[in-house]
Amino acid sequence: MERKNLRVNGKRLRAALEEMAKIGATSGGGVQRLALSDEDKQARDLFIKWLNEIGLEVMIDEMGNIFGKRAGNGKDLPPVMSGSHIDSQPKGGRFDGILGVMGALEVVRTLNDHGIETERPITIVNWTNEEGTRFSPAMAGSGVWAAKLDRDWVYGRADIHGKTFGQELERIGYKGKLRARQWPVHAYYEYHIEQGPVLEKEGKLIGAPKGIVCLHWYDIYVEGTANQVGPTPMEGRNDALCAAAEMILKVNELPAKVGGNMVATVGEIHNFPNSRNIIPDRVHFTVDIRSWDDELATRAWEDLKLDFGTIAERRKCPLRIEETWRVGHTPFEERLVKRVLEIAGQLGYSSHYMVSGAGHDASYMSQVAPTAMVFVPSIDGRSHVEVENTKWEDCDAGANVLLHCILQSASEP
Ligand code: GLV
Ligand code: MN
Ligand code: MN
Repeated sequence: MERKNLRVNGKRLRAALEEMAKIGATSGGGVQRLALSDEDKQARDLFIKWLNEIGLEVMIDEMGNIFGKRAGNGKDLPPVMSGSHIDSQPKGGRFDGILGVMGALEVVRTLNDHGIETERPITIVNWTNEEGTRFSPAMAGSGVWAAKLDRDWVYGRADIHGKTFGQELERIGYKGKLRARQWPVHAYYEYHIEQGPVLEKEGKLIGAPKGIVCLHWYDIYVEGTANQVGPTPMEGRNDALCAAAEMILKVNELPAKVGGNMVATVGEIHNFPNSRNIIPDRVHFTVDIRSWDDELATRAWEDLKLDFGTIAERRKCPLRIEETWRVGHTPFEERLVKRVLEIAGQLGYSSHYMVSGAGHDASYMSQVAPTAMVFVPSIDGRSHVEVENTKWEDCDAGANVLLHCILQSASEP
């Protein structure tokens, strides 16, 4: 068969995704595979079984990142790498992350079916803790691998039950011996669902993001004075939850206030002691700010901090702020982005040049290797929810684009 006519096996890709979706399946049709949970381990085990079945060299590093390498003819050449993540959000979807891992697996299976050898090795990757929902920050495995996050700091990050990343990594048996340190990569492609409404709205099949917005994460701790709700007059209360509520609205109003293209969200809140008849004395909430314009995001945060301070003072609720994580906006390698668009065209798919509002391991990868992503539409633009969905034929189309991107890069001397 002529190489240009090569296509992935859509049925097999679907079967792999459906098999993975059984692990951590939720009643609402989604999956819950929190990083380093038993479900994450189960999905990793299955992934490794599949890597072994096709004869790949399997490597696990000290962050639990899993690599499956298919040899190339030019043995010492830096590989083409492709993958994403197996972990999910709580009550997350069946496509976020796993599509990119199964997509890369399907590409290698297809090459094997047709006995196609490449000049460069091809390495499939599963990055640990992309989501950052159980252990913040997100993209931890790729961040350490790319030397942008400190390994021991990540090991020490705790979930809401006080279990640390390091403990849980050991518990599930995925603390590998290999150092989590970047090696030369010729090209990195990450295949992912769009997670937003743009492709559907534009009526386009393949998205080629020019890069990823910046991600700024903060943790806010507000303190109040607990007391019996009945006898305590309204006047003079130091209600930590009321102070947090005012602050949360400021976050929501921030993009409109500063202008420009930005989103700001509070997605997580912990209220203590969380009893209907105790005035709350402690609240922890998170702030997520994203923009293509790093400076705008930083200026907005400085503005927000002033508002937080004013509210804290007026309500006499002391405030502690942790500036947890910042990743600058990351432009991808133009040459590879163009390749995604060109290949989509050659395969007869419509395409769209866009920006990724979601974070991906490609963000850290693009800081150490030429990187691009392939997006396919999310039905109704829904993601990080159980109803997250993408048409099977769209999954095939994206995998075909990935196949030819990888083939081209892996054929380069
Ligand atoms: C990663 O899932 C993100 O928060 O965009
Ligand atoms: Mn993802
Ligand atoms: Mn996600």
